[in-house]
Amino acid sequence: MDLHLNLNHDSGLAEQIHTQLSQQIASGALREGTVLPSSRELAGRLAVSRATVVTAYERLAAHGLIRSRAGIGTMVSAGRGSAPVAQVESPLRPRAVWEAEPFAVPDPAMPAAEFNFAPGVPTHAEFPFAQWRALLSDQLRTSTEAGYADPAGSARLREALARHLGVSRGVRVGAGQLVITTGAQQAFDIAARVLLEPGDTVAVEDPGYRPAYRGFLAYGARVVGVPVDAEGLVVDRIPPETRLVYVTPSHQFPLGMPMSESRRTELLAWAARHDAAIAEDDYDSEFRFTGRPLTPLQATDTEGRVLYVGSFSKTLLPALRVGFLGVPWTLAEAARRAKFAADYGTAGHLQAALAEFIETGDLARHLRRMRRTYERRHDVLMSELHDQFGGVLEPIGSSGGTHTAALLTPGNADDLALTDRARVEGVLVGALSRWGLQRPGPNGFVFGYGAIPAERIRDGLAALRRVI
Ligand SMILES: Cc1ncc(COP(=O)(O)O)c(C=O)c1O
Repeated sequence: MDLHLNLNHDSGLAEQIHTQLSQQIASGALREGTVLPSSRELAGRLAVSRATVVTAYERLAAHGLIRSRAGIGTMVSAGRGSAPVAQVESPLRPRAVWEAEPFAVPDPAMPAAEFNFAPGVPTHAEFPFAQWRALLSDQLRTSTEAGYADPAGSARLREALARHLGVSRGVRVGAGQLVITTGAQQAFDIAARVLLEPGDTVAVEDPGYRPAYRGFLAYGARVVGVPVDAEGLVVDRIPPETRLVYVTPSHQFPLGMPMSESRRTELLAWAARHDAAIAEDDYDSEFRFTGRPLTPLQATDTEGRVLYVGSFSKTLLPALRVGFLGVPWTLAEAARRAKFAADYGTAGHLQAALAEFIETGDLARHLRRMRRTYERRHDVLMSELHDQFGGVLEPIGSSGGTHTAALLTPGNADDLALTDRARVEGVLVGALSRWGLQRPGPNGFVFGYGAIPAERIRDGLAALRRVI
């Protein structure tokens, strides 16, 4: 036990030791059963005589606060459990941005719903936990990645990932252009650090992905919500001074439709005309069920204006906190330095396990399995929406992913009231209007199908139907 005591003058040393130890016992900092250093050891550490410590210990024992146990030593005997640490009144206050509404953090302790249509939650049931455990423990036995490493990420993982992205998405990125990040969220942060001066304008989809919006706001950017229609971001509404445009072209969050080919062309041309960059969040692109594959903006970008963002949160688990950022060559070294400044690099053992998982083809196999699972859930959901909600909901329709959205027809109550009522009936579903950033989002629902098995969808929707 490494006790910290602060002795500030030479007289009354036993009294000071006694007072400070009794305070620590009273506050719960020293808990019942904690073994204290021997009187000889503590005297040595505090540079006082052993008799001084013995006096202090005797007084504590006389008050019943400590006792000696043969073979163990001196222990705390009357802890009061953990009490809050006494706080001083601090003059420090956070920057105003942290008081703003977008920064509300969701409550992870919220009880699980009987029918969980929460968006953004992948299926845990199919994650290969046993295999992952074996991969990680193998790395802990054998890995040489025990010290600080390249902040951009392990060369092996970046090479495996570059190949995987080339084959599965047509993304043209070399290993040296990739930075392994703590989820997509850190990729947005690094993009901002690399490209923006505080106060620069960032355009985001509205309704859109609030965590990205939040990240740019926290960095100190001026963030402007740009409307979205059936084809995706309305390009001619982007403010001309914008330096960075954030988009989810594969599966717009939260509405779910892909960005049309013509909008993609328009957006790349807009960025070229305005000398701007694009952060492409290729969210949910791995799970496509119908139609031709959509080519990422990154793959058709001939000017080197696209920063490509991906994540393993939906394909593996959000708890892994692994994502990546692919940048044009001109930004690669800055992105590497920005990652270094942020956190020195992502955990080495995790990267090594992931590299192995990709190289062996297990990731591709896992994705194929998950795609079948999600496709089945998507099909059941769409058909039940059609059967149970005719005239009440208009599905927006999406060609893949882990969620879909539907608009409430005019005359219905508002989605916030309805989702509250649904929660009471055991149904957790997203309110579309919540995803409006600077203007209210449309009235409707977001249905995630990562957490709900196909056979529960029908009953879950029936329970929702009853509250409308
Ligand atoms: C639009 C979008 N982008 C990215 C992510 C993944 O974020 P992260 O990798 O930080 O978990 C999500 C997760 O829900 C998302 O909805």
